[in-house]
Amino acid sequence: MAEKIHLKLRIRRYQPERNPKAWWDEYELEMGPMDRLLDALNEVKWHHDGTLAMRRSCAHGICGSDAMLINGRNALACKVMVKDIAPKARVEPLRGLPVIRDLIVDMEPFFAGYRSVLPYLVNDEEPPDTERLQTPEEHAEFEDTTKCILCACCTTSCPIFWGDDGYVGPAAIVNAHRFIFDSRDEAGRTRMKILAGKTGAFRCRTTFNCTEACPRTIKVTRAIQEVKRATLFDRF
Ligand code: FES
Repeated sequence: MAEKIHLKLRIRRYQPERNPKAWWDEYELEMGPMDRLLDALNEVKWHHDGTLAMRRSCAHGICGSDAMLINGRNALACKVMVKDIAPKARVEPLRGLPVIRDLIVDMEPFFAGYRSVLPYLVNDEEPPDTERLQTPEEHAEFEDTTKCILCACCTTSCPIFWGDDGYVGPAAIVNAHRFIFDSRDEAGRTRMKILAGKTGAFRCRTTFNCTEACPRTIKVTRAIQEVKRATLFDRF
């Protein structure tokens, strides 16, 4: 039988009806060699304390719902192997967003920033009979930023976002980039105007926290710099 891995898991808890202040709970778990941190959290929820509140869905790094602060770094619990963090791990809700309960944060400020940059294709021309075509070279300009799953790992690792709730944050700029550089889109200038304002791309101080945190390995800081450059040189 495969050897078990011992994990001492500390979880930051917050349940205002039980205690107006956040507290830490600690669990001693025996996990399998292929288990992820999400399995350990499920173990706690299913066998130790059913009141533990957290978001998760796909368990395969696609939906982005189980982003959290793991040993001081943002990551998806379903993509962190227990064997890589044992024997101890500390799990907290994402920073910079209001905590609703345990590991669940209010994502509305994050999505407000996302919505503000028009994160969809704008093209008022008569639609063609088939797809709106583009060359592989045109597609390569924004391919990296299509990988975003809106988990908020980048935005909530950004010190500017922590201190300025007006800043739209890295994920919003990544999603603006995805359409600004799309040859089929016509609203690049509008988006760049939005991002040239005091809540936009020039708030970025290139700390690279966002790039390090992205579970999809998007070059977030680079995308932000490309948006800044396109704005400064009036590329569109
Ligand atoms: S549960 Fe979907 S990304 Fe982890």
